[in-house]
Amino acid sequence: MDVLETIKSRYSVRAFKSDPVPKKVLEELLSVSLRAPSWANTQTWEFAVAGGDVMKDLKETMASRAFAQDERGPDIPRPEWPSPYKERRRENGLRLYELLGIRRDDVEKQLNWFVQMYRFFDAPSAIFIFTERDVSVWAMMNVGLLAQTISLAALNYGLGSIMLAAGASYPDIVRKKLNVPHSRQLVIAMAIGYPDNDAAVNKFRTERVPLSEVCTWHGF
Ligand SMILES: Cc1cc2nc3c(=O)[nH]c(=O)nc-3n(C[C@H](O)[C@H](O)[C@H](O)COP(=O)(O)O)c2cc1C
Repeated sequence: MDVLETIKSRYSVRAFKSDPVPKKVLEELLSVSLRAPSWANTQTWEFAVAGGDVMKDLKETMASRAFAQDERGPDIPRPEWPSPYKERRRENGLRLYELLGIRRDDVEKQLNWFVQMYRFFDAPSAIFIFTERDVSVWAMMNVGLLAQTISLAALNYGLGSIMLAAGASYPDIVRKKLNVPHSRQLVIAMAIGYPDNDAAVNKFRTERVPLSEVCTWHGF
């Protein structure tokens, strides 16, 4: 696939087929994604990948914590977005709810949808990206570049993905079940699998603020 086509066709997948992703495919995908750039090639990342029964167990454990509305304790604190980001976030949420037919007063449906995120939208596998604790904030940038590289390369294998702050909300569960030491902080989770193209939610596409609003030009 042409690189521009790949960039344009990526979207956050929120419904997956149950088909497992073979370990070999994920290995190839992650190996190639290691080509992502990082500050002075520091490669400040480590992964833990879950599939099969381990993934099922993780999903159920996280979903039940979310259903009980247990307090989240992400290693990277959740942001309070100032304007204009909070309005963009709200608009995004409202558009998604509209597509899903979730009314603003339908608390039950909203809770179900919230829990779905913690169930990784039923993806058969997930990638958890860690860095060392107490490392420079630039390590976050490195992880961002890596995560986007994974999500683009995934398209080459017919895979879809979504980055999930939700999946990084209970890092102690992830560390315990995937044997990750406390010295590693969970930055982001990604659900990955074959997209269910019939699912209405996978028709959801997001807008972008036009370039003219976020870019100034000099010397042209
Ligand atoms: C760091 C990060 C965390 C995210 N966490 C979530 C999440 O917890 N739940 C969710 O539904 N989407 C999550 N997303 C997906 C965003 O909502 C999505 O990228 C954004 O709305 C733009 O849509 P697109 O990816 O389809 O282009 C996350 C994306 C990023 C980059």
